[in-house]
Amino acid sequence: MLTVAMPKGRIFEEAVELLRKADYTLPPEFAESRKLVIEVPEENMRFILAKPMDVVTYVEHGVADLGIAGKDVMMEEERDVYELLDLKISKCHLAVAGLPGVRMNQIAPRVATKYPNIASSYFREQGEQVEIIRLNGSIELAPLIGLADRIVDIVSTGRTLKENGLVEFEKIADVTSRLIVNPVSYRMKDEAIDRLVERLSAVIPQ
Ligand code: PRP
Repeated sequence: MLTVAMPKGRIFEEAVELLRKADYTLPPEFAESRKLVIEVPEENMRFILAKPMDVVTYVEHGVADLGIAGKDVMMEEERDVYELLDLKISKCHLAVAGLPGVRMNQIAPRVATKYPNIASSYFREQGEQVEIIRLNGSIELAPLIGLADRIVDIVSTGRTLKENGLVEFEKIADVTSRLIVNPVSYRMKDEAIDRLVERLSAVIPQ
């Protein structure tokens, strides 16, 4: 039995679609259900549905053998998991954004983000000293109401920035979803995991 941690939310649908393309039989109510643990005995698999940021934690602790996690989450914290595949789904990027024409406050520039580590190292590399303000979501709100000069966040379609009158200043990194594995699971269940990797590799978009 393989346990796979799936990210709830925007990556979920694309991840399910990829699994179905790889010929995994998933129950039709997979996406609509509120259940957090879904058994698929036909495939000898069990799925757990977690917040994207928590997927890596479940895999790291070995309660899930595998997981689907964004590169952003992997970059934010160094974790004891292996990255097996770039699934090339949920393409987006991490960027620095803010209000147009507004320069960074020179004395105490503030940067709001869900990714404090990525943001700190990015600005350190740029030689800029900033104060990081950690938020959990709706990051675009921060510059609008004067909480921060800049944000570091995910840009996908760019709609959230646009509709809030914000602009992108710099791209930090491209992001796609990755298949990750617990190192012990990979040793113990290598055959089943290799099969899954093969099936997924065959259907990864180019
Ligand atoms: C993400 C991200 C941006 C938005 C970007 O937020 O943090 O806010 O999507 O997408 P877009 O470029 O297509 O508009 P998400 O909706 O995942 O929720 P959050 O605000 O809770 O982080």
